[in-house]
This record gives sequence, C-alpha cells and structure tokens, in this order.
Amino acid sequence: MQAMRISGGRPLSGHIKISGAKNAALPALAASLLAREPVLLRRMPNVVDIRTMANLLASIGAGVEARPDSYLIQAAGDLDPVAPYELVKTMRASSLVLGPLAARCGRARVSLPGGCAIGSRPIDMHLDGLKTLGATVRQDHGYIEAVAPSGGLIGGRIQFRRPTVTGTEDLLMAATLANGESVLENAACEPEVVDLADLLTKMGARIDGAGTPTIRVDGVDELTGAEHAIIPDRIETGTYLIAGALAGGELSLEGTCRQHLEPVIAKMRQAGCLIESPDDSTLVLRQTPQLLSVDVTTREHPGFPTDMQAQFMALMTQAEGTSNVVETVFENRFMHVLELQRMGADITIGGNTAVVRGKAALTGTDVMASDLRASASLVLAALAANGTTTVHRIYHLQRGYDRLAEKLTGVGASIEFIDE
Ligand code: EPU
Repeated sequence: MQAMRISGGRPLSGHIKISGAKNAALPALAASLLAREPVLLRRMPNVVDIRTMANLLASIGAGVEARPDSYLIQAAGDLDPVAPYELVKTMRASSLVLGPLAARCGRARVSLPGGCAIGSRPIDMHLDGLKTLGATVRQDHGYIEAVAPSGGLIGGRIQFRRPTVTGTEDLLMAATLANGESVLENAACEPEVVDLADLLTKMGARIDGAGTPTIRVDGVDELTGAEHAIIPDRIETGTYLIAGALAGGELSLEGTCRQHLEPVIAKMRQAGCLIESPDDSTLVLRQTPQLLSVDVTTREHPGFPTDMQAQFMALMTQAEGTSNVVETVFENRFMHVLELQRMGADITIGGNTAVVRGKAALTGTDVMASDLRASASLVLAALAANGTTTVHRIYHLQRGYDRLAEKLTGVGASIEFIDE
C-alpha cells in the first residue's frame, strides 16, 4: 500500500489541466453496453474506478480497448449480463450496468453493493424504477436479478422519492430501449446526467428534459455507435480551487466548465476567494487576501455538491470565524473530521452539522483516508499545515483523482509517495 507525504506551507502557482469527470465517464461506459456498434469515449480520466468499470464491461463480454485518454467499447456479441461481487464490492457505481443489461439482454444479475464509508447507500430506487418498466426483480445469494418481460422493458412513469444521480442514469439508459414512452420525475439534474443524455442522444436515443426534474424518453428499437468527449470534472476543478486558496498563490485551471462550478464559485467568493473566468473553460484563482467563514449546506444540483463538502470544510478551518457545514445528501459523510481534528482543526459535529471554528493552526501528522473526497480534504489541509503530513490509504484518492500528486507538484506542492 502507498501513502503520500506532503510538506505544507508552499504557495501554488501555474496551470492545471482538468481531466474528464469520473462520474460522467462511469455511466458513459455503462451506456456503451446498449449498442452493438463501437462507442468511442474521449477525455476519459486516468483513475482506478474507470479501469474497474472497463474490467466489468470486459467480464460481461464487451470488447474494451484502452487508448491514451480514451476508450473504445464494442459490445457486439452475446453478453453475459452479470456483475460479480469481486468487482461491485470495490465500486458501487457497478450498479450502473443494471439498467443497460436489463434493456439490452432482457436480464441483469448484479451483486448488491453492501456498506459504504459515506452511508448505507441503498439502490432501492433503481430497483423500483426497473419494476415500473415491467421488470421482475428478485434477490438471492446477495445478488439482484432483474428480468424484463419477453418483449422487452415497457415504458412507464418513474417517480423518484428523492433525486438520485446514478438511479436517474441507470433508468434513463434502461428507458432508451423500452417499448413506448417513459417519464422520469424528480430526476437528478446534475451535469453528469446531462452528459449521459447527450451521449445517448448521439447513439440515437430520444430524450427530452435532461438537466430538469422531468425527463421524457421515447424508446427506440436499437442504439448505434457514437463518439463522445466526457465533460470536465467539476469536483476535480473545485478541489484545485480550494488547494490554491489554502496554499496561497495563483492558479489557472484549464479545460474546465465554469457553469458547472457556479455553486462552488459562489461560496468561495463569499469566503473571500478571488476567482475570475477569462472564458467559459478557464478559471483563475488569484491570491486570496483573507479567508472568511461562510455556512454551507450540501444539496442536489444546482445546490452545493456533497462531493465538495469535505474539501470546503478543510478551507473553513483556515477562515476567520465560525462556519456551519451541513450535509443533507449522505447520512455519514464526516469521516474526515476526526482526521482534520488530529491536524489541529477545531470542528464539532452535531447530527448532520459540523461547526468549524477558524482560523486553526494546522500541523502535519499521520492521517488516514477513508473515502475519496475525505482523502482529498486531508491533502488540502496538508498543503496549509505546518510541517509534514502523511496521508495513509491513498488508494481512495487514486480511485477518482487523475494524477493528483503530479498535478499539484506541477504547480509547486511538495508531495512524495512512500511504500508502507
Ligand atoms: N438513495 C437511496 N436509494 C437509492 C439511491 C440513492 O436512498 O436507490 C439515497 C442515497 O443513500 C443518498 C441519496 O439518495 O442519501 C442520493 O444518492 P445518489 O443516488 O444521488 O448517489 P449516487 O448516485 O450513489 C453519485 C456519485 C457520488 C455523489 C452522489 C451525490 C457517481 C458514480 N457517484 O452517487 O459521487 O456523491 O451522486 O451527488 O456518480 C464521489 O465521486 O466521491 C461520489 C461519492
């Protein structure tokens, strides 16, 4: 296992190129199972979760060709519609193949994902949606099996209890090949859902309303091949904005999408960060004169993203005043708090609110990463800390950040990998 040793207190300056969004690339790979013709996905991030999903597609029987920054998927032949425990246990997003397999093969057998560091994270809404599309769903031996009627899935009206990102994506994919019209209500509006709809539309799907709470899908008999570039990673971008604000200095983030970052930019500006946008794909962070405390509550898009909560909390440890950080999307997403406290942060948790009192003097120590975004917050805190921080279990970071250490050292951070 590897750890990351970070020496804090160095200002960052220079350019960082933003990679494709992991959470858009994952459903795009799953969507390629819907067509017999090749699907070429460009701007794919170089992260472990993408390789896991590619391995899953290969085990299902798709041809997978990994090229630098792109993947060519060809699901031409017969598929074995099974997602085994060994793969699902390492990545919950494997459940994204449920919908495409049920639609394309008439059957999907996917291991139940089990527990997770950020909450119980059930997939009941994925399953209820498939039932609405006519599938029979049963569970045995830890697996979920969804079987479509003999003539295929049937269009239906799916009402989500609350917006779910991968649930919306899963059922959007299933609905593209269902017979007749489907309506997804209270659907997730995240940019990653819109990107998936864009890809599916290029493949011949008929979709209206992606990015709004009501998505209409007119089922077609088959989908074709397509070529698609994944949207930039808004969470990676936000993480580097906070890195710059914490470490000091000036950063230019290139190849991003300003519009997707609006909720994060708005909060950072309130906190005193100077962020400019010379064009829609570039964000420039100027030297922050003084960080001020602001409250933040995570919400579904276009609210403040839960995937930026841990990083924003690291920022608030260095702001003057008291900040309330409220997590409403996941039930247990404060695993980074104990580790930040070990670095000297003054944070107390009551229910789903963390009260952060700044400005705390952070000092380097050994900390343990627990999930992807928690790990990122520890790296960010380490950049602002006095001395050296060793972040253990960094495999979490490698699941979702494309060459994070390389990108940060490229702008002046001091980071080295150590084997342990
Ligand atoms: N939920 C249910 N039942 C379901 C599905 C979801 O109760 O069937 C609940 C969840 O437990 C949670 C809420 O609904 O409380 C919203 O969860 P959602 O389904 O939207 O999350 P997800 O689709 O599993 C994706 C991202 C997460 C991100 C969330 C929220 C991917 C692969 N994952 O997860 O990303 O935090 O949406 O935006 O797209 C990450 O990248 O670090 C990450 C965790």
